[in-house]
Amino acid sequence: MSVVSKNNRWSTAWDDILSGGNPRWKISSEECHNRAYEHFRRFVPVPIAEDDEEEKKGISVFCPLAGDDPFVPLLYKKGYHVTAIDLVPEAIEAMKKQFGDDDDDDDSNIWTKKESSSSDEDDNNDDDIIWTHKSGRVTLIVGDALKKRSYLNNSFDAVYDKDSFGALPISMRKAFCSRISEYTKINGIVYLECKLKQPAPGQDDDNGGQGPPFSLTRDDLMENDNYGGSNKFEYVEGLGIVYELAENFATMKQTGHVLRRCTK
Ligand SMILES: C[S@@+](CC[C@H](N)C(=O)[O-])C[C@H]1O[C@@H](n2cnc3c(N)ncnc32)[C@H](O)[C@@H]1O
Repeated sequence: MSVVSKNNRWSTAWDDILSGGNPRWKISSEECHNRAYEHFRRFVPVPIAEDDEEEKKGISVFCPLAGDDPFVPLLYKKGYHVTAIDLVPEAIEAMKKQFGDDDDDDDSNIWTKKESSSSDEDDNNDDDIIWTHKSGRVTLIVGDALKKRSYLNNSFDAVYDKDSFGALPISMRKAFCSRISEYTKINGIVYLECKLKQPAPGQDDDNGGQGPPFSLTRDDLMENDNYGGSNKFEYVEGLGIVYELAENFATMKQTGHVLRRCTK
């Protein structure tokens, strides 16, 4: 699938969301975010000692296919460094607004914009737009998460992925997991939330292949073409249901999984 057609599909979804249409995957409940954070920080604690070297360097979290997920600004408020990426400029604009400054509502005082054509050996030469927050702790990228970016290799202590793996067409999973393995430091943690579909009584329970959001179990995540390939990741813990979903997701559960980038 070309970047343009990928983009069109998601742009249409974002046009609808931002004009007050179906909120789709969006979670706006603070309680849900706090529950997710309780899990996340268990595996990726933010350093507390001020003279700690790690504190100065910061714990860096990569947030692929982030949309405008409020969990990303929450991580920033908790002290993490965050880098988020999304294909759709409007989604990143909605994300930027959540890092606003009460004393300064002029965007140009808060964000610096850079266009980067760095495409490595990939044939995807689309430029990225890279927004850097004045704190130096937030980077928001408008671009295709599957594109190779060697400057991000071995950069992140953790990955926060909510509903992105389950949103990707199956054919894109392998490339996606390769990027995540390139960007994550050895021993880095992947905190992943995805949907588990619970079929209605009498319905076929194997509905995981029907389309996004895909229903995903531990076994699906750890398949060779997914996170299990080349022994790059080990499965650390299943978190079960991380929070309850609204009624429009009646047949789905929001489940959490934790993986670790291995030394291989
Ligand atoms: C299901 S939504 C999840 C958004 C966010 N993680 C959340 O849960 O609120 C998937 C997001 O991925 C973005 N997206 C889809 N394909 C992408 C790609 N190849 N690269 C970057 N972003 C992509 C879409 O624009 C959309 O915002």
